[in-house]
Amino acid sequence: MNKNNVYIETYGCQMNFADTELVMGILKNKGFEVAKEIGDANIILLNTCSIRDNAEQKIHSRLEHLRGNKRRNPNAVIGILGCMAERLRKDLIEEKKIVDLVVGPDEYRRLPEFIDAAYGGEKGIGVKLSRTETYDDITPYREDGLSAWISVMRGCDKFCTFCVVPFTRGRERSRALESIAAEVAQLSSRGFKEITLLGQNVNSYNDNGKDFADLLAACAVAAPTMRIRFSTSHPQDLSDKLLYTIAEHDNLCNYIHLPVQSGSNVILEKMNRTYTIEHYHTIIDKARKIIPGVSFSTDIIAGFPTETDEDHKMTLEVMRKVRYDGAYMFKYSPREGTKAYDMGDDVPEEVKSKRLNEIIDLQQQISWEVNQALIGTEDTILIEGTSKKSEDFLAGRTDTNKICIIPRKDEIKIGDYVKVKINRATSATLFGDVA
Ligand code: 5AD
Ligand code: SF4
Repeated sequence: MNKNNVYIETYGCQMNFADTELVMGILKNKGFEVAKEIGDANIILLNTCSIRDNAEQKIHSRLEHLRGNKRRNPNAVIGILGCMAERLRKDLIEEKKIVDLVVGPDEYRRLPEFIDAAYGGEKGIGVKLSRTETYDDITPYREDGLSAWISVMRGCDKFCTFCVVPFTRGRERSRALESIAAEVAQLSSRGFKEITLLGQNVNSYNDNGKDFADLLAACAVAAPTMRIRFSTSHPQDLSDKLLYTIAEHDNLCNYIHLPVQSGSNVILEKMNRTYTIEHYHTIIDKARKIIPGVSFSTDIIAGFPTETDEDHKMTLEVMRKVRYDGAYMFKYSPREGTKAYDMGDDVPEEVKSKRLNEIIDLQQQISWEVNQALIGTEDTILIEGTSKKSEDFLAGRTDTNKICIIPRKDEIKIGDYVKVKINRATSATLFGDVA
């Protein structure tokens, strides 16, 4: 087996998927090759996530499984990248003897060096966080395709009390606007049709005074036939200028992921979210005025420390009021080292589960209603491929990020924009015909 073949498994958020492409870019520059199958790789890297306990548990059981690989091939190099690196370096190397290297999100440039050392029998740990590293000069390795991610900033300075990200990914820093816009233009000329600009809180993007609205406008102009999305927006920093910029450019998608986390001001304060629910509603109302038809998704946490039934009801109330198109919904998971960890985890597991289920059921109902209201309307979808359920149908996505299924037609190809009329809908999917 070629000792330079690398296989990376990616867990967690889109930032991690973007980082995996960066890592592959770094490794390919040094002569490593990307293996498509784990069986063809001598170097196996797991790009990990720490956001909730179950994400970490998944990695631990994956490592147990990889013991077999190491037994069959004692020369194999097994490495941990990403958010767990910082948190679990000792544990991973000392207790789980199969791990050869642990490299955190700001030390990926040193990965080739760590791999060489691992072949020499040395275990390597590189978990320092940086105030400046943005990998601005590294071209990520991307297969040709329709959609690409670009990390426009790294780290987070918000310190929500439940969140490990400021500790695992470090301080906030932004990539240069010009270099991002150039990358967007280059991806467009390679045939990509959709870009998602990524950051833990893109609204605090700052390149020497140029803000996120400036970046979006520059990207919109750099690739006029491409759809441009972004994630994630923190409500505190969402400016009017950003909303007007989205409204002004057709190819900036009318879709905002705006995590609310909770509907209770008491809980929001304990979470250090720095906005009130009244302010949050003001932003939503303003966005709906400035960007007609804008859709929203959100993140919600059930069972944060001290959350009462009243607090929980307020969260349901926000959901009813905003009527999100979609939501990512989680049970609170205590993370060591965060402020919330010290508040205790006093909402019993069964209460958390009950609240989470109520949140999920309500969102399902709202998504269904929101989608029913689209029946009879027309929209333009970007064709992504064949429907998962049937070869006779194609799947595309609306500007507002909804999947739409249409009957296959020979003249319609992947990457085409197609005008459709919606004739049926579930809570998760629209169905239409070519308009
Ligand atoms: N427990 C549960 N959910 C969390 N999130 C972040 N930290 C935690 C935690 N400790 C959720 C938040 C965030 C999303 C990315 O993950 O909702 O917006
Ligand atoms: Fe975590 Fe809050 Fe930063 Fe999001 S904004 S990454 S939830 S600290």
